[in-house]
Amino acid sequence: MLTFGDLSEAEAPAVQALLESNPGYTERVSGRPPAPGDGLEVLLDGPPDLTPGQKHCFGAWLDATLVGVVDVLQSWPNQQTAHVGLLLVHGAHEGEGIGRALHDYTLSQVRGWEGVDTLRLGIVETNAAAAEPFWSKLGYRPTGRVVPFIEGPVKTTVAVWTRPLED
Ligand SMILES: CC(C)(COP(=O)(O)OP(=O)(O)OC[C@H]1O[C@@H](n2cnc3c(N)ncnc32)[C@H](O)[C@@H]1OP(=O)(O)O)[C@@H](O)C(=O)NCCC(=O)NCCS
Repeated sequence: MLTFGDLSEAEAPAVQALLESNPGYTERVSGRPPAPGDGLEVLLDGPPDLTPGQKHCFGAWLDATLVGVVDVLQSWPNQQTAHVGLLLVHGAHEGEGIGRALHDYTLSQVRGWEGVDTLRLGIVETNAAAAEPFWSKLGYRPTGRVVPFIEGPVKTTVAVWTRPLED
């Protein structure tokens, strides 16, 4: 049975295993396979202007296995926006509806955040073929804003997409 909940630093090994189950994402956006410490980074890292409590990580568990992770910044970059950093599903469980279910859970949490009415995310161009069909299905659309993205050897762009909290 699929269950959802908050993730904390204690779940770093489970997030690490999840990243390693679906290495293509890290390879496409960083030019290298997942490395030790990447799981903890998903749980802790954020933009420099973030204040404590603004970063939330939610997990989807299939029995005892973490099969999905999403990290969301509350009221960032502005009061009315929740920014989705990464949503990743276990490589052995893609195409089973877990991504949509974890997003639905995220929406239920964001509905409790005062003043937030918009969700926002960035699609890295080197990952666009994998990510765009999914985010389109979930109601996100490109804003037209495209900014440079550099991660190790990967020099590309990131496109900002948004959707209203309520359809
Ligand atoms: C993208 C990702 C999160 C999708 O998760 P998933 O659990 O496989 O997606 P779901 O099964 O919940 O699919 C949700 C919907 O998107 C559609 N979809 C998902 N991937 C798709 C693809 N590559 N092409 C076309 N449609 C796709 C599904 O058909 C489904 O549509 P429906 O709900 O209307 O039937 C997963 O493939 C993943 O972890 N990719 C690597 C990480 C990544 O790129 N994340 C996004 C960038 S942050």
